[in-house]
Amino acid sequence: MTEKLTSQEIVDMNKEYTFFSWSVQGQVNPIPVTKAEGVYFWDADDKRYLDFSSQLMNANIGHQHPKVIKAIQDQAAQLTFTHPGNATEARGLLGKKLAEVTPGDLKKTFFTLGGAEANENAIRMARLHTGRNKVLAAYRSYHGATAGAIALTGDPRRWASEPGLPGIIHYWGPYAYRSAFHATTEQEESDRALSHLRDLLMVEGSHTVAAIILETVVGTNGILVPPPGYLAGVRALCDEFGIVMIADEVMAGFGRCGEWFAVDHWGVTPDLITFAKGVNSGYVPLGGVLISDAIAATFADRAFPGGLTYSGHPLGCAAAVASINIFREEGIVEHARSLGTDVIGPELRRLAERHPCVGEVRGLGVFWALELVRDRATREPLVPFNSSGAQAKPMAELGAACKDRGLWPFIHFNRTHVVPPCTTSVEEVREGIAILDEALKVTDSYYVGT
Ligand SMILES: Cc1ncc(COP(=O)(O)O)c(C=O)c1O
Repeated sequence: MTEKLTSQEIVDMNKEYTFFSWSVQGQVNPIPVTKAEGVYFWDADDKRYLDFSSQLMNANIGHQHPKVIKAIQDQAAQLTFTHPGNATEARGLLGKKLAEVTPGDLKKTFFTLGGAEANENAIRMARLHTGRNKVLAAYRSYHGATAGAIALTGDPRRWASEPGLPGIIHYWGPYAYRSAFHATTEQEESDRALSHLRDLLMVEGSHTVAAIILETVVGTNGILVPPPGYLAGVRALCDEFGIVMIADEVMAGFGRCGEWFAVDHWGVTPDLITFAKGVNSGYVPLGGVLISDAIAATFADRAFPGGLTYSGHPLGCAAAVASINIFREEGIVEHARSLGTDVIGPELRRLAERHPCVGEVRGLGVFWALELVRDRATREPLVPFNSSGAQAKPMAELGAACKDRGLWPFIHFNRTHVVPPCTTSVEEVREGIAILDEALKVTDSYYVGT
């Protein structure tokens, strides 16, 4: 680019000529981001932020890893694009490398540009494989913003797109802190959530259900880690009724949970895994569906009726090949796991001891949430569900207090998530948590409990 804009010009042109996601266009106030490195990024005025959000929980490898950039440059110099029906080295290599790290018999990949498209194609595959129509999806979930993916979504982002795709039925997943089942222990929550799912299958007609989709660990809607036995129980229900189990690992996969895939933590193999984000940390848009042998076989002798101009895009695939190599060379999955068990978990629990507004700490790997409350006894959320404007002020103030101090948080409803890149050092994690410690004094001031 030859033009050099001032920071104000960058913001003004973005606001005047472009649309922003999920936003009241007249009220957006974006910061002009000009560079990034590792766990940090900078605005046009050279203010530095420690990235405790991994942007959209996707920069798993950190920003501007030189080897990924080199791989993109090399690929661009050789072949930027070819028809998705052609074979390329980058696509073949990536398919093979993914098969090496996926659980069970998930060997083939259909490539997309992101997570929503991956989920669209996963439900398409499940419906054709089973010859059934219905899909069960969880409340408190996000699966993307295209027609099918938003219909699967179990949060307020779906409402404006309703009525959505027919045949999608929502169920309650486990969330022990705010149990839909009046459970008092994790085990009870697991058992009751499974029996709720079984009841739903009974009244919906299990023979009409093509798939059950879930986020292995729920991301934006709260970092909800499944209780013991839950995923295995869903797997067993799917087996019993011939239903395809789809694990959406768009956010939870590629090291985020301290495993290649979050399902590895529980030793469960779904029939389809959808992924995007962390596969190449968003250096080039890429997502996909990892497909079991049985479902792949459905399309061995008949056409798969889906496609995208940019499926298997060479730049995205090359970035992902490099990223997987680096994950292995640098032990990134193991690092993410130990950050969770040895540093982030213990440090956040210490924060909870100091700050009454912290109602619950939960997570694993580099995937954590602090759920903030007005009163620990009643668990009243610090701000109401889906609040905005004046109602959400305490959380907005928390965000501002973090940003003033150079920490970029991820805030959703009454939670702040601690989701830095998997490559963050112990010192950098501590630096961020120290800022959070200061900032939480703001939300403590809204605490009314004893
Ligand atoms: C669990 C999950 N699934 C799907 C998506 C949609 O991915 P994309 O925005 O790449 O379409 C997201 C995005 O945040 C996600 O977190």
